[in-house]
Amino acid sequence: MAQLFPRKANALPALSLLGALGGGLFLVLFVWYYLSPEFYEVGYKPEQPVPYSHSLHAAQLGMDCRYCHNHAENSTYANIPPTQTCMNCHAQIKTESLALLPVRESWATGKPVEWVQVTHLADYARFPHNAHVAVGVGCESCHGRVDQMPVVYVAEPMSMGWCLECHRNPEEHLRDPSLVTQMGFNEEVRASDESYDAYIEANLRRIASEGIAPPENCSACHY
Ligand code: HEC
Ligand code: HEC
Ligand code: HEC
Ligand code: HEC
Ligand code: HEC
Repeated sequence: MAQLFPRKANALPALSLLGALGGGLFLVLFVWYYLSPEFYEVGYKPEQPVPYSHSLHAAQLGMDCRYCHNHAENSTYANIPPTQTCMNCHAQIKTESLALLPVRESWATGKPVEWVQVTHLADYARFPHNAHVAVGVGCESCHGRVDQMPVVYVAEPMSMGWCLECHRNPEEHLRDPSLVTQMGFNEEVRASDESYDAYIEANLRRIASEGIAPPENCSACHY
């Protein structure tokens, strides 16, 4: 039979298949990037394996954040509590609860509960958690009113502009370090002009006397 197409045309279907795959791959990567937690958006609220509620445990039961996030103030990374922390109570409380089944399974097998990370920075940015908590930046300044969240979500943009906005005006965000976990503090000091002026003045004095100086140079936050 006569050749209708030159020999090398045989490569065409393979090439177009490759092209289609490449296009598909591009689409997958594109969607993956924009839908992944790497791409931070205020309001990002992943579904968790256990319907753990901060508004129940932190607000109603009055538990301090550091009972569970005990590394938030002394380590560069905060921590999600291990199953042991939950079992301190749930070995006795709600032992038949279906919602707590993954926690009991984790306890039995020793495999951690697979919590989905909510807040996360790109690897090229350095964020020392402890430095902020120690100097008295409240959890709510960065994570919002977690005590009012049945499900945690990203409350602030976590972008470079957001970091710098506070680094340039730290007087608007400082409090006595013993009050870092207190929720509603930021609203309270802003309740009236007088209380807010007094708050800012006290912070400016503290910044001067303690030499508090959040960095604005690139190498402080980038490796
Ligand atoms: C200091 C004690 C305490 C600790 C620690 C604790 N809880 Fe709870 N939890 C409670 C109490 C009390 C309730 C409410 C029980 C009720 O509604 O009667 C509760 C309720 C729950 C419920 C709802 C259960 C249901 O069926 O309604 C879930 C889910 C839960 N806790 C998850 C957790 C997880 C996950 C941890 C660990 C990160 C944890 N809890 C740590 C005391 C605790
Ligand atoms: C009883 C334990 C417990 C207490 C108390 C608690 N948390 Fe949590 N927290 C958890 C668990 C478990 C998770 C992971 C599941 C989730 O995201 O809901 C979590 C997640 C978070 C996250 C999201 C972490 C991420 O992946 O980025 C933030 C922010 C947070 N907690 C802040 C707080 C603050 C602020 C307080 C105090 C008002 C607090 N937590 C009190 C157990 C606790
Ligand atoms: C100045 C802002 C700021 C303050 C104040 C702050 N955080 Fe965070 N927190 C962050 C950022 C940014 C991350 C993400 C860090 C990363 O991915 O490197 C984070 C991460 C976390 C995580 C997630 C850890 C994980 O492994 O998923 C928890 C839990 C948390 N913070 C709890 C707290 C608690 C509790 C307080 C108060 C005691 C607090 N944070 C105060 C900004 C802050
Ligand atoms: C709400 C206010 C606030 C926000 C938001 C904030 N910071 Fe800071 N940051 C501070 C303050 C206050 C200090 C402490 C300065 C001091 O102790 O002299 C600080 C200190 C630092 C330091 C120096 C720590 C050290 O050991 O000296 C780094 C690095 C840093 N911040 C990174 C970040 C990054 C990255 C972000 C954004 C993801 C961020 N910060 C967001 C207030 C903030
Ligand atoms: C206070 C901390 C901080 C300082 C200072 C800082 N950056 Fe960033 N930078 C960040 C954070 C946080 C991000 C975003 C990380 C993320 O998206 O997870 C970022 C992102 C970036 C990006 C990626 C593009 C973007 O806008 O998201 C570049 C490029 C960058 N920074 C360059 C710089 C340069 C150049 C300087 C000095 C002039 C600098 N940064 C100073 C915290 C900082």
